[in-house]
Amino acid sequence: KRPPASILFIFGGSGDLNYRKLTPALYNLFLDDWMPEQFAIAGIGRSPYTDEAYRQHLLDGVTKFSRRKGKLNGHWTDFSQHVNYLQMDGDDAEAYSLITDLVKAKEAEWGVHPNVVFYLAVAPQLVPSIASKLGGLNICSDTSSTRIVVEKPFGHDLKSAHELNALLTGMFAEEQIFRIDHYLGKETVQNILALRFANALFEPVWNRNYIDHIQITAAESVGLEGRGGYFEHAGALRDMVQNHILQILCMVAMEAPVSFDANEIRNKKVDVLNAIRRISHEQVHDFAVRGQYSSGWKKGEKVVGYREETGVSPQSNIDTFAAAKFYIDNWRWQGVPFYVRTGKYLNQKATHITLQFKPAPHYAFPNESAESWRSNRLTISIQPNMDISIRFQAKRPGQTMTLDPVDMKFNYEEAEGEHAPEAYETLLLDVMEGDATLFMRADQVEAAWKVIMPILETWENRKPQDFPNYAPDSWGPDGSDALLARDGHTWINYINT
Ligand code: BG6
Repeated sequence: KRPPASILFIFGGSGDLNYRKLTPALYNLFLDDWMPEQFAIAGIGRSPYTDEAYRQHLLDGVTKFSRRKGKLNGHWTDFSQHVNYLQMDGDDAEAYSLITDLVKAKEAEWGVHPNVVFYLAVAPQLVPSIASKLGGLNICSDTSSTRIVVEKPFGHDLKSAHELNALLTGMFAEEQIFRIDHYLGKETVQNILALRFANALFEPVWNRNYIDHIQITAAESVGLEGRGGYFEHAGALRDMVQNHILQILCMVAMEAPVSFDANEIRNKKVDVLNAIRRISHEQVHDFAVRGQYSSGWKKGEKVVGYREETGVSPQSNIDTFAAAKFYIDNWRWQGVPFYVRTGKYLNQKATHITLQFKPAPHYAFPNESAESWRSNRLTISIQPNMDISIRFQAKRPGQTMTLDPVDMKFNYEEAEGEHAPEAYETLLLDVMEGDATLFMRADQVEAAWKVIMPILETWENRKPQDFPNYAPDSWGPDGSDALLARDGHTWINYINT
C-alpha cells in the first residue's frame, strides 16, 4: 500500500546528501510504485536554481548514484514534474511562508491535507535554527501528519545531543521526530531480526552459554572523500561507533520483541545500550584503541597521511580508526566480549558481524589442533557482500578422521537481485508512512553517547604526538590486534573467512 499524499521539503536541497542519496532513493521508490499517488518534493537551498536547472542537476546525481544505474527506465520526466526548488535562507524566518504557501496550494489542488515531511539534510550547526523556525509554523502542531527528519551527527557529545533533543522535543512530539541512522535501513541489518526471531534454530544458542565472543567490523576502504573539515570535528568513534556500530550491536544483542511496534523494538534496543558496562577513564587504555592513517599506498596509488589532508590540522588529535571492547551486563551476555572496529583507508570495504561459538565440551578427534573449535562461527555480512554463513567442522572425505571447516551460505543478492532497496529508500518510505521503528528515539541517542563518552574524553586529553599510526590498506594500528590478542583472539577478516 502506498503512503498517503505527501510533501517533502528537503533542506540542503542543493547539497551532497540529496544529490547522492535522497533523490536517487525517491526516484527508485517512484519506479517501484511506492511513492504516494499525490506527492511533491521541494528542494530548499540558498544557491540560485530554476526548477529546470535543479531537475537537471538531480538527474545528474541519479545517473551517477542510483542502484539502477543505466536502467532509469525513462520515467524521469514524470517524476521530475513533482520536484521544485525553493530558494530560501533557512535563517530568514519570513521566508518560511514559502513553505506554508506550498502546503496550502497542494492541499487545495489535491483536496486532502497531505503529510508534510521536513528533511534536514544540512550541516549540524544549522539544525537548531531551522528546527526552531519550523516549530513555529502552525502545520507543525499537527502531530499526526507533520514530521521532521534529522540526519546524523546527532550532537557532538552527550551534552549537545541532550540539548538538541530538548530543543526538538520542545517543539515537536517524539513521534514527529525521525532521527536517521541509515544503517538501520540496510536490508541485511533488518535481516538480523528475521534471522534471530523468525527461526527457532538460533535463539537457543544465542547467548553466553554457547557464544565465546562477538566481532563487529565496519571497515571502509575509502578515505575522507573531501570531508576533512567535517571529520576533523568528528573522528571514527563519533562518526561510526556512536551510531551505526552500536545500533548493529543492539540488533545482535537485544531480547526478543513481543511485537513490531516501533516503541517495543526501540525499548529492547535501549535496554542493551543501558546494559553496556561503563568504562572508566582509567580503563580506556585496556578497552579502546585509536589510530590515524599515515601516508602510503592505497591499491597502487600514493595517498597522503590524515594530517596532511585538506581541512585537517597537522597536529590533529582525531581518530580515523577506532576499536573497542564492550561487555553487556545482563543474563544473556555476561562475560561475552563484543569487539568492534571501524576505520578509513582500511584494506577493504567490509561490514560484518561474527559470532564465535565456544569449543565443544570435549574434543575426541585425534588429528585436530586445540584451535580447531574456532572454525565454528556464524557470520552476517552486511556489505558489500550480503550473506549469512555458518562455518562448522565436517569430516574430510577419506579413510582418516580428519576435519575441515565448511560453509553453509545464504546469499541475499542471489535471492533479491538488483531489487534490494537502498537504505534511504526504506527509510524515506517509513517516514512517509509514519513508521519510526528504524529511527532513533531520544533516549537511544543519549544512551549511545553515554557508552562512548569516557573513551572520547580520554582520547581528547591524550597528546596528539603519541597517536598510533597505521598504513593505508592495512587493518589498522597494531594496538587493534593487541586488544584481541590479550584475550587470546584474532580479528576475523571477511577475506580470510
Ligand atoms: C556515514 C559516515 O554515516 O557512513 C561516513 O559519516 C561513512 O564517514 C558512511 O563513510 C558509511 O556508510 P556506508 O553506507 O557506505 O557504509
